Amino acid sequence: MRFVLLLSATAVAQKIGTLVNEQHPTIDFYECTEQACTSSPKPITLDANWRWYHDGTGSSNCFNDHFECGTPAECTRDCELEGISLSEYESTYGITAAGSELSLKFVTDHQYGTNVGSRTYLMNDDNSYYMFKLKNAEFTFDVDVSTLQCGMNGALYFVEMPEDGGLGAFPSNTAGANLGTGYCDAQCPHDIKYIHGETNSEGWTSGESGGRYGACCVEMDIWEANSFATAYTPHSCDTTKPDTDRYYRCDGEVDCGDGENRYNGVCDKNGCDFQPYRHGNTSFYGPGSSFRVDTTKKMTVVTQFITDDGTDDGTLSEIRRFYVQDGVVVQNPTVTKVGSPHDSITEGFCDAAAEWAADGTNFLEKGGMESMDIAHETGMVLVMSLWDDETVNMKWLDSDFGDPPSNLRGPCPGDETSTPEYVRENYPNSFVKFSNISAAATSSAGPGAQQTTATLT
Ligand SMILES: *[C@@H]1O[C@H](CO)[C@@H](O)[C@H](O)[C@H]1NC(C)=O
Ligand SMILES: *[C@@H]1O[C@H](CO)[C@@H](O)[C@H](O)[C@H]1NC(C)=O
Repeated sequence: MRFVLLLSATAVAQKIGTLVNEQHPTIDFYECTEQACTSSPKPITLDANWRWYHDGTGSSNCFNDHFECGTPAECTRDCELEGISLSEYESTYGITAAGSELSLKFVTDHQYGTNVGSRTYLMNDDNSYYMFKLKNAEFTFDVDVSTLQCGMNGALYFVEMPEDGGLGAFPSNTAGANLGTGYCDAQCPHDIKYIHGETNSEGWTSGESGGRYGACCVEMDIWEANSFATAYTPHSCDTTKPDTDRYYRCDGEVDCGDGENRYNGVCDKNGCDFQPYRHGNTSFYGPGSSFRVDTTKKMTVVTQFITDDGTDDGTLSEIRRFYVQDGVVVQNPTVTKVGSPHDSITEGFCDAAAEWAADGTNFLEKGGMESMDIAHETGMVLVMSLWDDETVNMKWLDSDFGDPPSNLRGPCPGDETSTPEYVRENYPNSFVKFSNISAAATSSAGPGAQQTTATLT
């Protein structure tokens, strides 16, 4: 009887494998109030998509280049998502944590094959993500991008994922945040293996890179960069759509904004990017001392979420950026768009930038700053990843992409030397290191604020 009950209890579950016990690496994370900063170790987990998905005994895979386990119901019934041990985080996935630093290696050869890149999340405890609410606050981290070549992206950003990875909303998901479920972003990606507690296997046939559904949510890209180009970019989503919750499963080309429907989907895919090179300052960021921010050396990146009345309850009105390198504060450059100067992201900047680019960018139409405001009221999850780009070789970040006048985004050739095949072969040992991550009240003495004060006074 007990056996039967157990079976029925797990019959429709996105189950946790029993072969390897999940062990999260931890990094020291700083939280600062107006009085002081405290640091505490916080777990890191790897996204479910990177994990071994098998039949429960480990003798056959449920996913190779597509699902090989039948219908979504059958896959969810028969397959298990496996844990990762601390040593495998490093040996299989190239992920290492020490002190406040997280290092993600680009290519890692291991006993079963080769791993490329990773996507990790900061957790509050082993079963829930850390939820960031940064209105009227400052977010700071140090980053080393020195080995990131054209075609790569070492990214640190926020997305409006559910705190428990979807465990509560979808009972068939028993893995949850522990095993990195629940990812979504403003591209409404189709390559997410589990959405809404079931496999995204419908339409995901061999040769396809995703299934029928996409996972959409508001995204704040704090940092998308390699050593040649960088951007910080809010992406809004139209969450007033009927039946839409903050984490939205889109269905079909129009809803998901695929291909020609790019501007018809639920989210703003272009985003309101502040990209120094694209907006006209080609000497601000790059490798060597001739650049204002020299990417051969570590730097501190500070982002402030400013409200209209300077309180936590105000309306998010501006997203400011500055850098600290070698103890010197470097202000974000001032760029001129349709006649007006801007050095931060505001709706005024987004409006002017969209008018200048004339490329259909619809950040304001899909919700604009209000979208980001609500996301920070609800809480956003911190993502740290390293990836290459199968679709357009990261040209949207570092090369010539789109139409004039906004097409020049970086100095990279964007040719075959930016393809995944080339960069994996030639620069497998590239890495990104994020450290000293902190969240602070804007008026507090956080690491970034301390450095600002030290240098400005
Ligand atoms: C780029 O930005 C830096 C820092 O703000 C500034 O000193 C420099 O003059 C700018 N260059 C151009 C071409 O605007
Ligand atoms: C953290 O910040 C401190 C103070 O700026 C700096 O001395 C240290 O090198 C940083 N550590 C890492 C791992 O980046």
